Amino acid sequence: MIDPAILKSIETFVEGQLPLLKSVKDSWQPHDLLPNTRNTSWKKELVEFRRQAATLSDEVLVVLIGNLVTEEALPSYQSWLNRISEIRDETGASPTPWAQWIRGWTAEENRHGDILNKYLYLSGRVDMRSVEITVQHLIRNGFDLKSGNDAYKSLVYASFQERATKVSHANTGRLAEKCGDSTLGKICSFIAADEARHEEAYKRFFGKVLELDTSNAVIAFASMMRQKIAMPARLMSDGISADLFSQFAIVAQRIGVYTTRDYAGIIANLLDYWKIPSLSGLTAEAVKAQDYLCGLPATYLSKADRIEEVLASLPAEPFAWIFGRTA
Ligand SMILES: [Fe+2]
Ligand SMILES: [Fe+2]
Repeated sequence: MIDPAILKSIETFVEGQLPLLKSVKDSWQPHDLLPNTRNTSWKKELVEFRRQAATLSDEVLVVLIGNLVTEEALPSYQSWLNRISEIRDETGASPTPWAQWIRGWTAEENRHGDILNKYLYLSGRVDMRSVEITVQHLIRNGFDLKSGNDAYKSLVYASFQERATKVSHANTGRLAEKCGDSTLGKICSFIAADEARHEEAYKRFFGKVLELDTSNAVIAFASMMRQKIAMPARLMSDGISADLFSQFAIVAQRIGVYTTRDYAGIIANLLDYWKIPSLSGLTAEAVKAQDYLCGLPATYLSKADRIEEVLASLPAEPFAWIFGRTA
């Protein structure tokens, strides 16, 4: 059970974390990292941009598209935060710290889908119409993180998910660099740096909740992990594949963009950041939740080898995103 008064009482704390969002003046914009179509040298810039993009493997293209589709469903994520009654933006332009956070976070996130979309369009490497269809389907299908609009569980989810996106963007960028696309490498590292600030903010918010309502917060954390973290783009569809998300997730796992080991590593990081193993004075139910949480990284790691073997044995699947080629 959450205590609504806790969320209210940490408003000043939340306000103190707002500088984790960058001012618009200090933020990068997609145009800073893409060929400048106003320059007289734009053709030359575009030729070089495409030369680099031509080096990307089909696997990297598939995970990049999956990352883009995930980012483009931002309307679903903003509406999720606004369903949580204790923190939502009541008017749409409310001055409360929580509302300022939600809008500022959304405004930063919006650049992620924007730049990846422009990158893919300019690259000429993918079936952009199929990608756009997937985005439209995903937003129509929605996203249920199964938190029941519980504020504590939602903060756990956001902490986990920001770190997960940081990991996958950073790994995608490293692979792009390796292929020979330093432009995409830089784009992914800029996005990952934003995700890192967001991760830090959500971890601090939940850390404060933990400090003030420890047992209930630990129980919420465990309950979120028991049902597993539902990926935000789980309901993506290109209108053709029966389970597009799984196909994308298999490629992401195979090429090391987001793996079972990463999942275990994120849980371990959260346990450590929130000092879960050393919390004391918990209720009996919270002690059970604490024990369960502390064993989780080892549980996932013990399955990682077997999962990798199985995934390696699966055939490559065709993706409409890349004109039916397999990955
Ligand atoms: Fe993002
Ligand atoms: Fe994010």
